[in-house]
Amino acid sequence: MNLNQLANNLNILCRSVGAFIKKEGEGFERSSIEQKGFNDLVSYVDKEAEQKLVEGLRQLLPEAGFVTEEGTDTTRGERFNWVIDPLDGTTNFIHGLPAYCVSVGLMDGDEVVLGTVFDPNRDECFWAYKGGGAFCNGSSIKVSDAPALKDGLIATGFPYFDFGLTQQYLQVLGAFMSRSHGIRRIGSAALDLVYVACGRFEGFFEYNLNAWDVAAGVIIVQEAGGRLSKFTGEGDVVFGREIVASNGSVHPEMLQTIGEFWKKPVA
Ligand code: IPD
Ligand code: CA
Ligand code: CA
Ligand code: CA
Repeated sequence: MNLNQLANNLNILCRSVGAFIKKEGEGFERSSIEQKGFNDLVSYVDKEAEQKLVEGLRQLLPEAGFVTEEGTDTTRGERFNWVIDPLDGTTNFIHGLPAYCVSVGLMDGDEVVLGTVFDPNRDECFWAYKGGGAFCNGSSIKVSDAPALKDGLIATGFPYFDFGLTQQYLQVLGAFMSRSHGIRRIGSAALDLVYVACGRFEGFFEYNLNAWDVAAGVIIVQEAGGRLSKFTGEGDVVFGREIVASNGSVHPEMLQTIGEFWKKPVA
């Protein structure tokens, strides 16, 4: 398989779906949204964007299956699976906040080998494939060289569920506030990851994410020279539902800071 050629075609597809999402955002009617949960929102744009991606990806790699947020196609491939978040940052999209993206990763067995994250508002297409380096549009990207947490800007997200974890989450946030340049919560895990990859953030952590939130970002961070783990420092970050991504240098301090307050037993 020619991953470079597949990446080019994936980028074209993600750009076209991203343009569709951005266009639908103009004059978007909030009354059309549905609630998956109290604050877990979805719109027809998420669903139509996913359908367009699935149709395009079927052409690109007919033998691949799918893991998608909106469940357009639940067929699993024997070896290859596309892991799709058609619109990462739905809450932002619905509120007209221009911080959302299309995120698509390709898994070969249990390894992500290719990924694209396209932000139509900034016209930034982040992409990587295994062994090929990481890029934003035509330029090579790499993680920041900041040596320590005190020099770093840290991103996170708040889970839709598990409100019982709020207090310990706040404790972790308090610790990061006093040990870093600050904390940001953009509202798109895929953008958080690629911003680690290109050095805008030194680190990112979040609990309760799904594979589609992170698959593409994982290979982009890896190829940009970053480090990824669960809160314990190891484990499967794609399906593991918790993630720490960093430039590598700040990783031990991030794990230490989370570990001081994170009491939930690791599954
Ligand atoms: C969400 C975003 C958000 C994160 C949530 C995700 P969605 O994805 O990535 O930043 O905090 O946990 O579910 O629902 O907008 O695709
Ligand atoms: Ca969602
Ligand atoms: Ca998502
Ligand atoms: Ca989504």
